[in-house]
Amino acid sequence: MSYPAIRPRRMRRDAFSRALMREHTLQATDLIMVAFVIEGDNRRVDVPSMPGVQRLSIDLLLELAGECVRLSIPALALFPITDAPKTEDAAEAWNPDGLMQRACRALKAKYPELGLIGDVALDPYTIHGQDGLIDEHGYVMNEPTIEALVKMSLAQAAAGMDFVAPSDMMDGRVGAIRDALETAGHIHTRILAYSAKYASSFYGPFRDAVGSAGNLGKGNKHTYQMDVGNADEALREVELDIAEGADAVMVKPGLPYLDVLRRVKDAFGMPTFVYQVSGEYAMLKAACRNGWLDEKSVVLETLTCFKRAGADAILTYYAIDAARWLRGE
Ligand code: PBG
Repeated sequence: MSYPAIRPRRMRRDAFSRALMREHTLQATDLIMVAFVIEGDNRRVDVPSMPGVQRLSIDLLLELAGECVRLSIPALALFPITDAPKTEDAAEAWNPDGLMQRACRALKAKYPELGLIGDVALDPYTIHGQDGLIDEHGYVMNEPTIEALVKMSLAQAAAGMDFVAPSDMMDGRVGAIRDALETAGHIHTRILAYSAKYASSFYGPFRDAVGSAGNLGKGNKHTYQMDVGNADEALREVELDIAEGADAVMVKPGLPYLDVLRRVKDAFGMPTFVYQVSGEYAMLKAACRNGWLDEKSVVLETLTCFKRAGADAILTYYAIDAARWLRGE
């Protein structure tokens, strides 16, 4: 049978039948807010390449967390910008009283129900802005980096972090972190593995925000992050992280990588998260600020597309805005 017996436009004619046949919907509970934390009191510092995003001191971060709770956003992903001097060994990363650990304790004390996701990578702490420890040639060393990441994960778990999220792409780090967490009795700490993390140029504004761009200089992360031309390799990376004990896996960046997201979800059926990264935010923001795109509708469209492509949850700097829009606020 075909036209005119079948007229796909019949179902699209009215809002009620469009609503009934909608396959994928976006809800606030799909969203994870991303935030940058800084030292001090009552401090908010703009990120120039991410208009609308501010680095917040812990007291103001608590207000943002309260807003997440009010809006039913289940979790907050945290990235620290510490005043502690950057070092070769990145030891500040596992300081029990470091900024990340203090932020975590403060958030958990006030909003225990809000899930907290801690970034595990050394770039906020290293002199050179790489995610790991380097040798004399500047190569990021795998095993020494893992040792540091394990200490960092244990420090976060001890502070009450719900998820540790290794974003470094070292080989074998998920397994090492899992073993260490189990041995230390942190059996409930979840691991969100940045499994298919690409060596993307869309991270530029994030590197401005955390202040690693200058240190990284002309350096790049191609020896550990994935080549943008690969997709089968993403499946191999995800498979390894699952075998090593990841509770959830992630594809990053988001919008240019929907094909990878779909393949990962189909192949493994794992809790699969996607990260709408800083450069994606900056592009949308810039066009919307110029009046070239309508912000609410393009952002909600983009986030819905992640759901359609298989994402269970979306890390996004737009989480709070989107949750408000979804409520009609
Ligand atoms: C670093 C890290 C990066 C992001 C999250 N963790 C940047 C990088 O790999 O250089 C990017 C997030 C974004 O662009 O929003 N471990």
